[in-house]
Amino acid sequence: MPVAPTVASTLGVDMPAEEFRRHGIAVIDRLVAHYASLHDQPAYPAVSPIDLVPLFDGPVPEHGEPLDAILADWEWKILPNSSIQGSPRFFGWVNGGGTQVGTLAEALATGLNPNPGGWRAAQAATVIENQTIRWLAELMGLDATAGGLFVSGGTMANTAALQMALRATATWDIVADGLQASDRPSRLTVYMADHEAHVSFKKALDLLGLGRNALRLVPSHDDFTIDTAALEAMLVADRAAGMTPFCVVGHAGSINVGAIDDFAALADITERHGLWLHLDGACGALGAILPELGGRYAGIERADSVSFDGHKWMGIPYECGCVLARDASRLKRTFGVTASYLHEQPDDALEAFDFYDRGPQMSRGWRAMKVWMSLRYYGAEGYRRFFRRTIDNARYLHELVAGHPDWEVVQPEPSLYIYSFRFRPAGVAEADLDDLNARLADEVKARRVALVMTTRIRGRVTQRFSIANHRTTRDDIREVFEAMTRIGRELAGQGAD
Ligand SMILES: Cc1ncc(COP(=O)(O)O)c(C=O)c1O
Repeated sequence: MPVAPTVASTLGVDMPAEEFRRHGIAVIDRLVAHYASLHDQPAYPAVSPIDLVPLFDGPVPEHGEPLDAILADWEWKILPNSSIQGSPRFFGWVNGGGTQVGTLAEALATGLNPNPGGWRAAQAATVIENQTIRWLAELMGLDATAGGLFVSGGTMANTAALQMALRATATWDIVADGLQASDRPSRLTVYMADHEAHVSFKKALDLLGLGRNALRLVPSHDDFTIDTAALEAMLVADRAAGMTPFCVVGHAGSINVGAIDDFAALADITERHGLWLHLDGACGALGAILPELGGRYAGIERADSVSFDGHKWMGIPYECGCVLARDASRLKRTFGVTASYLHEQPDDALEAFDFYDRGPQMSRGWRAMKVWMSLRYYGAEGYRRFFRRTIDNARYLHELVAGHPDWEVVQPEPSLYIYSFRFRPAGVAEADLDDLNARLADEVKARRVALVMTTRIRGRVTQRFSIANHRTTRDDIREVFEAMTRIGRELAGQGAD
């Protein structure tokens, strides 16, 4: 219902309290309707940003508008033209489904608007961040010496971890001279499994000025985990060839198949060779909370650093990544800065609450609030329940694929919630299968069945589902799988069976 603007709302910064309340309720009403209809909204609107440009095009607003007019765009322009992350049929990338408690936490966080770069601007926020990081570290099985902080996402967490690795292993004055030092060793290199290496490491190497050739891809086993014997042989050969290995990266849930490397075997190697061990756990580090997966996470506590994304499997609203260091002092040794205007205090104990010199950012948003509230609201037990459901969904999909003659299994039964599989009906030539799988994913989106995507497994185009959403049920999985089979047969010119 339209609300007439008041003089205060159009001329002043702040609205009168009653008007703010009315608009706040209007916003909450929209969100209530949104959350209530997540099962009914198509996950994918089948429009592109190019289609939408005219809808949002216009001159810079010279005069303010009533908030009701702006909010009306939510229904008419924004919601119907958005992919719905919260939909139980959103299987793209590794996107989390979001939660109501996360939404409320964001409202409170931005309402107070602290800047937890330094504790003086954010006393409670910085304590909450340290506490939340401690909870996450404990849930992952890291020692009490671990520390960390929230960053924008897995890419920044991986970048920060590589920066810590460089600092920790550098034999020259890297703080003063960086990579421009004349006594810097040549060809600094990083190692990870060849198949599942996430593109975020290319960005990290770009940002650190190391160059993409610094990434050395190690052969992987049939189950896509890193071949540790091959890794060790490669380290020795690379050293002999004049390279300077400084970091090995293991996966705690890889991008296409959710692979979990053998952390203990990796730690044995990195300890033997004096290298930094980083675990990319953006997708799956928190799987350590499931006792039934316990054995798979053995050795995580020996990693020098771990990255994790709250905005993936935990469903924390974007953005929310974090980087953890086994030895918390590594953060300050890597990111520490001083400046007279920062007003550092001589008290060491208080420094633990200054995040500007424990991570890559100065000013920061209060990301911890939404994780802190979510962990308190659902508890570890709640997350165990959610995670088990997503894994059960992935395994159910694997069962459907394995039991259907039109589909091909391309990976082992999933340990986590990411699963790749291939449409391969009899009678279609191998040479046409990549194209068929790509068209199938496009068609499933165009018909608004679900948001599905493809990847390449060992070079061949496959379907790839990330079933991170806690709302997804076995019915969703079965119905989408059946629809994909029907559409696939249609595209292959085979009709319904
Ligand atoms: C294994 C892995 N590492 C890193 C990332 C990067 O995370 P973000 O997109 O939050 O930067 C992703 C994202 O999907 C990922 O799957």
